Amino acid sequence: MTIERWTAVDRYLTELLVPADATLDAVLRENAAAGFPAHDVSPAQGKLLHLLARVQAARRILEIGTLGGYSAIWLARALPPDGRLTTIEADPQRAELARANVAAAGLAGVVDVRIGRALDVLPTLVPCAPFDLVFIDADKQSNPAYLRWALRLARAGTLIVADNVVRDGAVASDAADPSVRGVRDMLELMAAEPRIEATAIQTVGVKGWDGFAIAIVAA
Ligand code: DHB
Ligand code: MG
Repeated sequence: MTIERWTAVDRYLTELLVPADATLDAVLRENAAAGFPAHDVSPAQGKLLHLLARVQAARRILEIGTLGGYSAIWLARALPPDGRLTTIEADPQRAELARANVAAAGLAGVVDVRIGRALDVLPTLVPCAPFDLVFIDADKQSNPAYLRWALRLARAGTLIVADNVVRDGAVASDAADPSVRGVRDMLELMAAEPRIEATAIQTVGVKGWDGFAIAIVAA
């Protein structure tokens, strides 16, 4: 097995199951043209997030790490008309393009892009809690702190999803890397926290080899 074959399968599945979407495709082009790192979730991953939000019947979603708003749009499209997605972005330039992308997707009334460091913004979101779904996808060093905040802003049954928990396999071997350290500390917190039931899945395809942690908050 090679990354080429995994990518070919990803493309096949995506073509079949994730119809091309002019709005979302334009967002990926805008983000690339702005020189943002290619850290958007893949189309198939975006649809996974969308379906998880639908299964969860989420009305309030929190995203930590907006980048250009690609995953925010996938998630927000799962919301009912009175739903709300709050997403936090530390970089004002990224937040500005995310707002434009969200507006182009017709979701300006649903998506609230908050500019600031997540650890500064999260305490201000207590009045917006509880969230039904939290997607953690910002700087990986802070993942343990983001998980603690997700728990504080959760209810029994909240779904927590964290991106990039495999990192080309480094999660199992490269404990010195600060991003890996952050991922491992978060996973260990998930394992130790009695309020959390978690698993993680590896993904391969157009974004290489990575994975999601998926957790549910108990009572
Ligand atoms: C990185 C961050 C991401 O959110 C992602 O999806 C891929 C890579 C990174 O920091 O390397
Ligand atoms: Mg990511």
